[in-house]
Amino acid sequence: MDFSLDEELTMLRDMARDFADNELIPRATGHDRKEELDPALFGMLAELGLMGLTVPEEYGGAGMGNLALSVVLEELNRGCASTGVTVSVHNSLVGAPIRRHGTDAQKAEWLPKIASGEAIGAYCLTEAGAGSDAAALRATAVLDGEEYVLDGNKLFVTNGAQAGIFIVYARTDPEASKSRGITAFLVPKETPGLAIGKHEKKTGIRGSSTVEVVLEGCRVPKENVLGELNRGFHLAMDTLDGGRIGIAAQAIGIGRACLEASIKYAHERQQFDQPIGNFQAIQWKLADMSARLDAARLKTYKAAWLRDRDEPCTQASAEAKLLASTTANFCADECLQIHGGAGYTDDFHVERLFRDARITEIYEGATDIQRIVIARGLLAS
Ligand code: CAA
Repeated sequence: MDFSLDEELTMLRDMARDFADNELIPRATGHDRKEELDPALFGMLAELGLMGLTVPEEYGGAGMGNLALSVVLEELNRGCASTGVTVSVHNSLVGAPIRRHGTDAQKAEWLPKIASGEAIGAYCLTEAGAGSDAAALRATAVLDGEEYVLDGNKLFVTNGAQAGIFIVYARTDPEASKSRGITAFLVPKETPGLAIGKHEKKTGIRGSSTVEVVLEGCRVPKENVLGELNRGFHLAMDTLDGGRIGIAAQAIGIGRACLEASIKYAHERQQFDQPIGNFQAIQWKLADMSARLDAARLKTYKAAWLRDRDEPCTQASAEAKLLASTTANFCADECLQIHGGAGYTDDFHVERLFRDARITEIYEGATDIQRIVIARGLLAS
C-alpha cells in the first residue's frame, strides 16, 4: 500500500495550490461580499485544465479521475469554497454523467464545451417538495411527437446563473413507482421555456450562484434523454456517488484553511504574556483538527480510488462526505473559538470559513441522508 501521491498528482496538487494562493485567496472575500465569482476565473480554470479534469482527452479534457479531482478540489476550496463548489458540480454532477451515460453524439457535443468552460454545467434534481426525498420530484416530461415537453420548478440549482447546460430530472412515467418513472434530460440554456427564477441569498458560499429554474413548455428533442428512459433516478444517485466525493474534498479544503488560520493565530496572538499556542487548550484543538482532517482525506481518497476503478463506492462516498463535512464544521467552530471576538467579525476571513463549512453538511445529501445510505449498505451485506 502506497500513501503518497504519484508525480503527476503531486504536480497537479502544487499547481492547484499555487492557483489558490495567487488567484483565489485574494478574491475570496470579494466573491463573498459581491455574491458573485470573478468571471475571469472560468477562463483561467479552463486554461489549467480544471474545468475538464475528468473529461477524456479525446474530447479536450485532461482525462484524469476522481482521485485527481479530489486532490484539486481540496486545494481550490482551501482558497475559495464558492469557486470550489462551482468546479465540483461542473465536473462531477454534469461532466461525469455525460461521460458515463451519454451517447456518442451527446459526448461529442457537450464534453468539449464542458472542458473549455464554454458551457458551465448545472444539475437540476431538487424541488420544493423533493429535497432529501429526491424521488418525490414532480417536474414532468411528456412526449409530443419527436420532442419531450418539460414543465416544473427546480430549486437550489448550483451554477444556474452561469450554466450553458442543465441536466434536468423529470417524471416520464406517472404510473411507475416513485423512483422508476424518472428520466434525465440535457437542456441547453437557450431552450425556449427554460428560465432562471429566484436567485437565493445564502449564508455561505455566497459567491457561487444558486437559483430556481423554471420550466414551462420547455421542448427538447428525444435525443436529449441522458441514459435510459425511466432510469433517471438511478442515474441521479450514481452521479451523486461521485459528487459526494467532490463535496468531501471541498469540506477538507475548508477544514484545512481553518487549521492553517488557527496555527498562524496561535503563533501571533499574545495573551497572558505569551503566544496562545503555548496553552494546551489551543494545542488540543489543533491536534484534533489535524487528526480528523487526515482521516477524512484518507477516506475521501479511498472512495475516489474505488470510483476510478469502477468498483461500488456508494457507501464509501457517503462515509467520506459524512466524515469530511462534520470535520469541516468541527474545524470551523474550533477555528472561530481560537480567534475569539476577532474571529466573529469580518476583519478575519474565519467567519466566512465558518459560514462556508455549514453547507457541506447539507447539499448533495444532508448528513443524516449519508447515514441512511451507509446503514442501508451495512444491513444489506
Ligand atoms: N446508484 C445507482 N442506483 C441507486 C443508487 C446509487 N447510488 N442508490 C439507489 N439506487 C437505486 C436503487 O437501487 C433503487 O432501484 P430499483 O427501485 O430499480 O431497485 C432506486 O434507486 C431507489 O432507491 P431507494 O429505494 O434507495 O430510494 P429512496 O427513495 O429510498 O432514496 C435516498 C434514497 C438515499 C434517501 C436518496 O433519495 C437521496 O440520496 N436523497 C438525497 C438527495 C440529494 O442528495 N440531493 C442532492 C441534490 S443536488 C445538490 O445538492 C447539488 C448541488 O447543487 C451542489
